Amino acid sequence: MDVFECIFTRRSVRKFLEVPVEWDKIGYILEAGRAAPSAGNLQSWKFIVCTSGNQRKALAEASLGQSWMEKAPVHIVVCSEPKKVEMFYGIRGERLYSVQNTAAAVMNMLLAAQAQGIGGCWVGAFDEDMVKRTCGIPEIGRPQAILCFGYPEGKTKDPGRTALYTVTFVSSYHGRIADMNKMMGYPSHKLRKAISSGKEALEKSSSALDKLIDTGKKLTQRKKKNK
Ligand SMILES: Cc1cc2nc3c(=O)[nH]c(=O)nc-3n(C[C@H](O)[C@H](O)[C@H](O)COP(=O)(O)O)c2cc1C
Repeated sequence: MDVFECIFTRRSVRKFLEVPVEWDKIGYILEAGRAAPSAGNLQSWKFIVCTSGNQRKALAEASLGQSWMEKAPVHIVVCSEPKKVEMFYGIRGERLYSVQNTAAAVMNMLLAAQAQGIGGCWVGAFDEDMVKRTCGIPEIGRPQAILCFGYPEGKTKDPGRTALYTVTFVSSYHGRIADMNKMMGYPSHKLRKAISSGKEALEKSSSALDKLIDTGKKLTQRKKKNK
């Protein structure tokens, strides 16, 4: 899966199979977080991996009762260390860079999950004190996000995005581009279409392959019986 496919096919997954996530895959997710950029390379983050049922239940309760979270076999609580960043960059570091550093790590982790066939969801709506108590987070740490991971159950719909030309300006705010696709040399909807038709073709050929294998098995069984 290349980076574009990974970005464009990622969805927030909130329904999970009751299948544990392998530790090596969790390891890659954590490594991807660690590889994120950060202001001054301060790496002002901590990742707390939570897999126990009780702790996941407590985290779901702390997240304003988002009960779907409990079913995700892995939660990773991403914390920032704002005071550490303040020492280097003052108030801007404390309030802005510390948040941005963890957000960059979070996005890397979500994409690393997607690349490995694991669904994830970024949860930001939670009571910070409850999360701090649940995970024993000291004064220096501030929980920024809870990431829920697991193998997805079913497909998740794309909630859609506003058109590129409505969110992109050239030179100044409100500097609209008359024909975005012409200027950029590619139409983004074509890119998406190419990705989804590629995926469909792959799915079709793999199900055809499954059928062939099945027929092969049945034929061998019949031959054995006839002998
Ligand atoms: C800062 C932030 C906080 C979020 N908090 C929650 C949350 O508390 N619960 C939830 O179900 N989704 C949460 N989301 C996920 C968004 O709802 C989701 O990304 C958005 O609807 C777009 O869907 P997509 O991720 O499938 O593209 C959050 C996302 C971000 C970036």
